[in-house]
Amino acid sequence: MSKFTVSTLQKLKDEHTKFGTITAYDAAFAKIFDECEVPALLIGDSLGMVIQGRDSTIGVSVEDIAYHTRCVSKVVHNSLVIADLPFMSYYDKQSAAETAKKIMEAGANVLKLEGGAEIAEIVKMLVQNGIPVCAHIGLTPQSVNVFGGYKIQGRSEEQAQKLIKDAVALQEAGASLIVLECIPSELAKEITEKLRIPTIGIGAGNSTDAQILVMHDAFGITPGHTPKFARNFLKETGSFSEAVKLYLSEVTSGNFPNDSQSFH
Ligand code: KIV
Repeated sequence: MSKFTVSTLQKLKDEHTKFGTITAYDAAFAKIFDECEVPALLIGDSLGMVIQGRDSTIGVSVEDIAYHTRCVSKVVHNSLVIADLPFMSYYDKQSAAETAKKIMEAGANVLKLEGGAEIAEIVKMLVQNGIPVCAHIGLTPQSVNVFGGYKIQGRSEEQAQKLIKDAVALQEAGASLIVLECIPSELAKEITEKLRIPTIGIGAGNSTDAQILVMHDAFGITPGHTPKFARNFLKETGSFSEAVKLYLSEVTSGNFPNDSQSFH
């Protein structure tokens, strides 16, 4: 098969085909996911929690992301490789450009940034320099100290309207994809229908164009608290590849996430 690109993911949205994506941090799991033809793998700054044992993503460095991006991208032939820009590494255009260069050189195909309309100029600058961008709104973990904890976002009318405006501004700035994290399913549906670009949900119900799971949540090996939107596909199947295949098919059929794995 030919490698997934932002255009092939856009085509999936245009054809109304839902797709699953998953995080990856090392070569062994990336190879399994790639062989299962997962459309996109994310080297997420969630590695701060699941790999490094921290209680937030805040201590993750550009070098950490670049290292894990190199580990993953070396073995990937099919999946699109998306990597996070970590905390405080894109606070202005200069810092974003320097960080982006390092992570793209490590093998990323797309960069993911947390934030709304306030980062639209940074998104524009990256896109103008040939870097596809995945935006990320809702519960953006790098802002946990502003939110006062890992709380569902977009429940009030005011917050919901802001998230809709942010999503549109990021699309207009040139983002190719957008992650919607921990928002009510009804709001995620509204944003998904409003946008031309694919939405990738996590804790955002099953109306988004795609889903993403932290791989540890899909295999039931998350250290500490397991989120409500997780499902242990490994327990249901008994092997990593079968678990990933089941996850992909459950997303495509719209069975995952179900109502009890979603917020309202
Ligand atoms: O860091 C990460 O893994 C993420 C996903 C949860 C979307 O941002």
